Amino acid sequence: MNPAALLDKVNRGDFCVGIVGLGRVGLPLGIAFARKGIRVIGVDRNEELLALVGAGTMPFYEEDEHDSLTKVIASGKLSVTSDYDALREADILFITVATSLNIEQRVDFSQLYSALEGLCPRLRPVQLLILRSTVSPGTLEKIVKPFIEKHTDLEVGKDILLASAPERISAGRALIELETLPEIVGGLDSITTDIVGAALRTLNPKKLIHRTDPVSAELAKLFTNVYRYVTFAVANEFALLAEHHGRNAHSIIRTINEGYPRGNIPLPGPCGGPCLAKDGYLLVEELSYPDFILTAWKLNEGVPSHLVHRLKDALSKEGKRLADTKIGVLGKAFKADIDDLRQSPAMRIIELLEREGADVLCHDPFHDTPPLDVVIEDADAVVLATNHTAFRELRPAEMRKKTKPDCIFVDCWGQWDEPDEEGRILMFGRGDAT
Ligand SMILES: NC(=O)c1ccc[n+]([C@@H]2O[C@H](COP(=O)([O-])OP(=O)(O)OC[C@H]3O[C@@H](n4cnc5c(N)ncnc54)[C@H](O)[C@@H]3O)[C@@H](O)[C@H]2O)c1
Repeated sequence: MNPAALLDKVNRGDFCVGIVGLGRVGLPLGIAFARKGIRVIGVDRNEELLALVGAGTMPFYEEDEHDSLTKVIASGKLSVTSDYDALREADILFITVATSLNIEQRVDFSQLYSALEGLCPRLRPVQLLILRSTVSPGTLEKIVKPFIEKHTDLEVGKDILLASAPERISAGRALIELETLPEIVGGLDSITTDIVGAALRTLNPKKLIHRTDPVSAELAKLFTNVYRYVTFAVANEFALLAEHHGRNAHSIIRTINEGYPRGNIPLPGPCGGPCLAKDGYLLVEELSYPDFILTAWKLNEGVPSHLVHRLKDALSKEGKRLADTKIGVLGKAFKADIDDLRQSPAMRIIELLEREGADVLCHDPFHDTPPLDVVIEDADAVVLATNHTAFRELRPAEMRKKTKPDCIFVDCWGQWDEPDEEGRILMFGRGDAT
């Protein structure tokens, strides 16, 4: 087979997909292809995860899943294994392993290298390898290509085709967004980009495919996330400024945005997760002037400790020490309506409170946690740490029937923006004079 024959195969919908890494990106991608009738082989090294997925059980929360996994496993369209040999059958391979920062805050590509080590002895002509993970600019050409050239006899561009096509779904909404989001595809050559585009269009024939080169595709992904991250940091700086001036950043930002065509400022709130903060580092690691993005990182990372300090101060004004208090925390996940705890600001708040010696109980509807009533019962403080929809109707006045009568409510999200004569609702971005 040659690249043109592979393109024909893909255009006919007669191709097999292999996926390395069945996490929050890889598994939904596999399900999405399998739901369209494409045969998918998923490889992961986590045997526990493989047992769950093989039994048709989703290992994490995904909106719009509707038993799809059970169905595609039962139909045989998706099979999962730890054996890389199974991937010989695949025409198109996606790498979807995690990329993170190590303890020294440097980019950790160990999963990418281990995936390449697993793949190289099994690669055969003609296969297309798509880097879907988020990586530093140039990774396809500086790491993946030389690795394959060194560890196989295959010729890149003839036997093995390479492309970057980074994933841009929002965690928890992958199965919805995989059908709707435009794709940014950078093949090493034009026919490779054609094949990637054709393969991704099986998810939706109307899918918009932006054609570019690999470095631009990798940069586009990082710019997408870092732009959001920096914007959230600005909103968080506005929150600190408004607090300093005794004003309310939420109402100021709403005032700016309403009816004004150049507003669109996001509301403040804790910002975290496995992608946004890390992606800034991927973007700037080779440069010596990354101050703007690092400042955003400092701002966002500082929000949990700022909120814990505010609570500590408020308690101490009442003669209480954090170490002697019971705190109920609402939410563990890093954002609303998902179960992902990685780099979650809510988890950081819990950690900081526990470090001060507080007795912390947490309720999160996406996790096996004590019920809400138990968590807030006799609490000295209640912290709204994640803005899950399930918490939207909760009101301090109602919860105070269960908590201690002098309970302090900490609202990280501006959901309890209501008159507070006694100063017992601490809202991120709202200063004392409001
Ligand atoms: N989570 C998101 O919402 C999201 C969105 C867009 C992009 N991304 C990016 O996509 C990539 C994957 O993220 P994720 O959240 O899916 O990570 P994840 O940790 O959920 O999944 C990675 C999976 O790869 C497996 N794995 C690791 N090394 C392996 C190997 N050598 N062979 C086989 N399997 C291996 C792990 O066991 C794990 O199941 C990252 O680069 C991330 O930044 C994530």
